[in-house]
Amino acid sequence: MSSPEKPQALAVGSITLLIQNGEIVTDGKRFRADVLVDGETIAQIGEHLSVPEGATVIDASGKFVFPGFIDPHVHIHLPFMGTFAKDTHATGSQAALIGGTTTFIEMLAPAGSEDLMDGWRTWTGMAEGNSACDYSFHIGVTRWDERTEATLRELVGQGMKSFKVFLAYKGAFGIDDHALYQVCRLAAELGVVVTAHCENADLVAELQQKLLAEGKTGPEWHEPSRPESVEAEGTAHFATFVEMTGARGYVVHLSNARALQAALDARARGVKLDVEVVIPHLTLDRTYAERPGVEGAKYVMSPTLREKGNQPKLWAALERGDIATVATDHCPFDVDQKRMGDGNFTKIPNGIPAIEDRVNVLYTQGVSRGNLSLERFVDAASTRAAQIFGLYPRKGSVQVGADADLVIYDPTYRGTISAQTSHMNNDYSGFEGWEIDGRPEVVTVRGQIAVQGGDFVGDPARGQLLRR
Ligand code: URP
Ligand code: ZN
Ligand code: ZN
Repeated sequence: MSSPEKPQALAVGSITLLIQNGEIVTDGKRFRADVLVDGETIAQIGEHLSVPEGATVIDASGKFVFPGFIDPHVHIHLPFMGTFAKDTHATGSQAALIGGTTTFIEMLAPAGSEDLMDGWRTWTGMAEGNSACDYSFHIGVTRWDERTEATLRELVGQGMKSFKVFLAYKGAFGIDDHALYQVCRLAAELGVVVTAHCENADLVAELQQKLLAEGKTGPEWHEPSRPESVEAEGTAHFATFVEMTGARGYVVHLSNARALQAALDARARGVKLDVEVVIPHLTLDRTYAERPGVEGAKYVMSPTLREKGNQPKLWAALERGDIATVATDHCPFDVDQKRMGDGNFTKIPNGIPAIEDRVNVLYTQGVSRGNLSLERFVDAASTRAAQIFGLYPRKGSVQVGADADLVIYDPTYRGTISAQTSHMNNDYSGFEGWEIDGRPEVVTVRGQIAVQGGDFVGDPARGQLLRR
């Protein structure tokens, strides 16, 4: 990075950044151009733009310029399974930025016994002033009553235009069919998206008890306790409620081909349903969770890691656009927490950390390995999420007027993922030792440089709550 030697007069207000000679990649186009940033937004895109006085100039020759990536499914503050996910908004957001993610949507997840408005105050209070990147919330609905409905109406009015429900986790976040119907009905009325974790909770509970009674207690039994059919049923079930109410649905972390077929069948009959896949399901398989003891527990998440044979089908659906987005379901628990499930796999806190690794793993395993075009990579990891969740074109695009959330990506970088060098607040990595074929060299948040050369150099409190 350098300051220009012969600056030209400013044409507009406070020009801050000129990114020269990069290859801009959007969901539909690749082209070489300069990007001029004025304050927080993109002011101009064109060839050989003149250097305004006082601008910081970044030479992006040989690099891609991507829109900031958006992770539409993360857990930062999460009380879950008798413990708390490990990241704070500070650690999670800075790790996100180092990995190229400039916006995340977190699930606001109050316990069923908690008042939703109290939950809203808790989550927003924790994030405010502590996030380095922009963020928003899916409003978790974990019970149904008049007060919950009134709160949902109020929060939608405040710009939180998506709900989150769990068909799984009986006795915790899970809701019954009455509540599911009411959530979908309200979402249809208000024009907001219902996101759903689709596993049949009753079937899971039955299978867990059966396996434990047979003395099957290790992490390798997590997958058989919630097989693909349980998720396919949950997906079809959710799709039916979306169909009956005319709502718009979004299936989170779909993991296998049977569940995908259930979603596609629903779509074929006109149900408004988008599908998300998460980076662990695209790249890790059930054998990781079959490792003995805590080594397997590190890979326990729900839906579970599946048979490897699902992965080519997920990649193909992603490339076609039948799967819209790639998220993380970032949910870090450390090794001690994973040991809570020693001797009983149903007590292993579910989740895998990934917010820092999603973009690099998707680029490496997707674009570099020929599973994903560069344009679909940008679309699936940024643009589509912005469109589905009401952030587009402010986020998810490189165009004049958009927020200057930009990732200058170096495809020649070679490195190795390790917990030792990770910025997530965890003591293991699900991708330990994996090689990556690129990384974000510079990342900006609304025009301000947040990451340079793999280090966080930004304002730890820059992040804003995004109302949609
Ligand atoms: O295993 C997972 N996915 N943990 C986080 C909670 C959820 O289901 O999204
Ligand atoms: Zn889930
Ligand atoms: Zn989740």
